[in-house]
Amino acid sequence: MSIIIKNREEIEKMRIAGRLTSELLDYIKPFVKAGVTTNELDALCQDYTTNVLHAISAPLNYAPNGHKPYPKSICTSVNHQVCHGVPSEKKLKQGDIVNLDVTLIKDGYHGDSSRMFYVGEPSIQAKRLCEITYECMWHGIDAIKPGRHLGDIGHAIQTHAEKNGFSVVREFCGHGIGKTFHEDPQVLHYGKPGTGPKLEPGMVFTIEPMINAGKRDIRQLADGWSIVTKDHSLSAQWEHTILVSDTGYEVLTVSAGTPPKPPFIS
Ligand code: MF3
Ligand code: CO
Ligand code: CO
Repeated sequence: MSIIIKNREEIEKMRIAGRLTSELLDYIKPFVKAGVTTNELDALCQDYTTNVLHAISAPLNYAPNGHKPYPKSICTSVNHQVCHGVPSEKKLKQGDIVNLDVTLIKDGYHGDSSRMFYVGEPSIQAKRLCEITYECMWHGIDAIKPGRHLGDIGHAIQTHAEKNGFSVVREFCGHGIGKTFHEDPQVLHYGKPGTGPKLEPGMVFTIEPMINAGKRDIRQLADGWSIVTKDHSLSAQWEHTILVSDTGYEVLTVSAGTPPKPPFIS
């Protein structure tokens, strides 16, 4: 495994890519309402990315090893969809929870972030899943500091999820990011403290836990991309792109509309 350490200039470019990524999520938020199709959200994001942010949508035609090219510009994962939900003509309805995952390329560097959105008023259980998943991501982020290990991040996430009666999806993980969308290291959302590579300043990776209300098992739909829970239980996910700084971490995917940190983060 070779983890690329980013230099000062690269980090500056990744700050910009990260901010634009977050601005795209800010932009789309008011459109996430009952009656909108996920294809409409996809088209709005594609247009804003190209014409306002002057950036490139990374998912469109993305074809990692063995996958057929991804057909859309964003991922829209609704309710029991875990990740990589492919936008379609299906309309969002009251009570849905939906993850919008967006990835931009600006000046050769990637930013990758996702948030959960409520369509109208979701059930208490659905809200709790989204909130705990957000806390899981932040417990992972809070474990980042030079000298700590990658396994510390996964352990923090898994502990919080399971303490709350939820399960962690194992098949997908966070990832190094930079000139390429997915690079080393793999950032697992479960694990043991003190295991895995040591964190060093200049590493940039995502933390993007997928947490299920029921069992952790998943399956892939016939479209070759969309992942759903096997037991049809709800699933939530949040994602930030993070830099390991000299003293701790810096969240790169930030903008005016970024949701506030949970109270346990100082
Ligand atoms: N944005 C996803 C991630 O966080 C990857 C999506 S790949 C795609 O890593 F092709 F489905 F867009
Ligand atoms: Co990612
Ligand atoms: Co993503």
